[in-house]
Amino acid sequence: MSTRQLHLGAILTGVGTDPQEWLDPQIPGTASIDIDWYKQQARAAEAAKFDFVFIVDSPYITPDSAPHFLNRLEPLTLLSALAGATDKIGLVATLTTSYTEPFNVARQFASLDQISHGRAGWNVVTTGLEGAAGNFGREQHIDHGERYRRAHEHVAVVQGLWDSYEDDAFPRDRANKRFLDPAKQHRLDHRGEFFSVTGPLNISRSEQGQPVIFQAGVSESGRGLAARIAEGIFAGVDNFEDAREYYADIKRRAAEAGRDPNQVLVFPGISPIIADTDEEAQALLLQRTGELDLKKALVQLGRPFNYHDFSQYDLDAPFPELGELGSNGYRGHAEKIKRVAREQGLTLRQTALRFARPFTGFAGSAQTVANEIERWFKDGAVDGFNIHVGAPAAFARFTDEVVPLLRERGLFRDEYQGRTLRDHLELEVPVNRHSVKAAEVA
Ligand SMILES: Cc1cc2nc3c(=O)[nH]c(=O)nc-3n(C[C@H](O)[C@H](O)[C@H](O)COP(=O)(O)O)c2cc1C
Repeated sequence: MSTRQLHLGAILTGVGTDPQEWLDPQIPGTASIDIDWYKQQARAAEAAKFDFVFIVDSPYITPDSAPHFLNRLEPLTLLSALAGATDKIGLVATLTTSYTEPFNVARQFASLDQISHGRAGWNVVTTGLEGAAGNFGREQHIDHGERYRRAHEHVAVVQGLWDSYEDDAFPRDRANKRFLDPAKQHRLDHRGEFFSVTGPLNISRSEQGQPVIFQAGVSESGRGLAARIAEGIFAGVDNFEDAREYYADIKRRAAEAGRDPNQVLVFPGISPIIADTDEEAQALLLQRTGELDLKKALVQLGRPFNYHDFSQYDLDAPFPELGELGSNGYRGHAEKIKRVAREQGLTLRQTALRFARPFTGFAGSAQTVANEIERWFKDGAVDGFNIHVGAPAAFARFTDEVVPLLRERGLFRDEYQGRTLRDHLELEVPVNRHSVKAAEVA
């Protein structure tokens, strides 16, 4: 057995975050609001011993949003139901720091962590959709820089609240009628740029101490936040060289922030296409690309640019000059689209098709896909992968054909070694800050 273990997450997106996944007859049209569908998929991922399931989220839609975005379950409610339907697998939900209060967020995730016996994770995002402002009483979306300052403070407050109770705060001593040891309950008394929070939080820590923090930093500020707070990072990369660059950059930044880089795990999201032979898989990939609807691809291309209307341009002219557009949206993604179009001299049509395609570097026979996963893992590009789960038969090809090959090579677990998400990811349990202080004084 190799000592370093690969980690696997399963991204559950019901009817899909691209315009056409829902057309697959294997996926029920109601998948994104059907708890039984999610249970089935989470159980399949757990049977394959995946580390976690992951639920994406955002708080703004238009009629042009992708099918899953239009009509879906709220992630923490959903994961609380999945906690009861599964036993070991981690449960990771996205929630924005831009339009929430840390007290509520701390309480919600601490509850999920208790309900699931230490399996919760929080994917911290700052929200790139400018229209979200209108759903939270604001005229304008919070500026990109401010969103990140707010995110740093928000997460610090949440983590402070999670430590409100030391692990032995509740003697629950009936004989002496002593439920709480008040010396082990701590107020936060936070006063910062964005939040004033007194505390304490009204829920104690779970078996894993605190929920695991995930992040998906793409832009400069995004990477900075990831390196400082994230224990798991969902990397938006779509080729090996970029992945390796991103991986090295994040690990370096984490070390510079005084953290152990091995406690910061990087997971690109991939959509494997597995067939009996490489040729068949490539044919499937071509077929899917050929089926892409250009009108929808243009809408999808506009999303990181605040749903910019790309239908106004000549499709076969060079990708348009957009100035600062996108810098207050999904900045990292918008910058990447502009850069790739410029560097590769793409037309608008080519750019739309290039970015509408799911990331499918992993198309081939099970053997080929396993080889590629091993290469990325061993050659310093990833600590694991977040696998897009669509139709059950396609996911089964991954769990039944690729995962056994990874096991044979000693890369992936046969069985869960522990019960919590931190156990699976081999992440340290954060010691309660007040217990640390008490130990230092003693
Ligand atoms: C793999 C991956 C998953 C993401 N999931 C979400 C999500 O669920 N919700 C969301 O609002 N943003 C999500 N994002 C977007 C990022 O969190 C980030 O907000 C975005 O890249 C814009 O920020 P930045 O460009 O400033 O880094 C995701 C990004 C990546 C790469």
